[in-house]
Amino acid sequence: MWNGIKRNLVVLGLVIIFGCGGAPVSLERAPSAVAGCEDATPEMLTPNPRMLPGRVCQACHVAGGQAASLIWTASGTVYSRADAKCNEAGVEGVTVELLDDKDRVMVRLTTNRVGNFFTAEPLGAALRARLSKDGKTANMMGLQPTGACAGCHNPSGTAPGRLFL
Ligand code: HEC
Ligand code: HEC
Repeated sequence: MWNGIKRNLVVLGLVIIFGCGGAPVSLERAPSAVAGCEDATPEMLTPNPRMLPGRVCQACHVAGGQAASLIWTASGTVYSRADAKCNEAGVEGVTVELLDDKDRVMVRLTTNRVGNFFTAEPLGAALRARLSKDGKTANMMGLQPTGACAGCHNPSGTAPGRLFL
């Protein structure tokens, strides 16, 4: 009986910790978010601007997704090499410029401590991108129809590996 009570207390504790902390995050329910990444740590599943680096943010941050209240129009993570592991440190302080089909800058973002960036600004139907930091730059030459960078920038995607600078 004591075991039963203890089990109930544990369940109650979990409900208190997870039940009131906002929307639960599940990669099982969003398999297209995984992008060839290793397992996420529990910390990475906590909703905040440093969550789930390397994963396809917009698999959840989309109408009808787990984070439908926060719809990103472009999002991703910048690493220091194309074959980076998702859970290794990304590069902070990279300027991410999103350009339209006339090469005008639509949005300028800066990567955070884990290398993540995201925006909810309305963007045009096609975009290019430019990364820069400390005199280094990388350009995406072709126009792409979506700002969900990690959907292509992953080990089996159409882009040359993860975003890196
Ligand atoms: C597996 C689903 C999932 C993925 C993938 C995901 N998120 Fe989230 N995110 C959520 C959920 C759920 C919330 C909470 C939404 C709410 O409160 O309504 C959230 C919240 C957020 C918030 C708001 C946090 C706050 O302080 O309120 C930010 C910022 C964020 N995510 C950024 C990102 C970025 C950047 C990525 C990709 C690198 C990403 N998310 C990937 C599910 C996800
Ligand atoms: C639909 C697929 C797709 C999406 C989405 C995509 N890319 Fe790309 N990206 C590519 C391809 C393919 C290349 C290589 C050819 C080129 O440069 O156009 C590339 C190349 C790049 C490069 C140059 C890499 C190098 O080694 O020089 C950068 C930087 C880049 N992308 C940034 C981004 C950013 C930032 C986003 C999200 C806002 C993004 N890409 C979204 C497909 C994509």
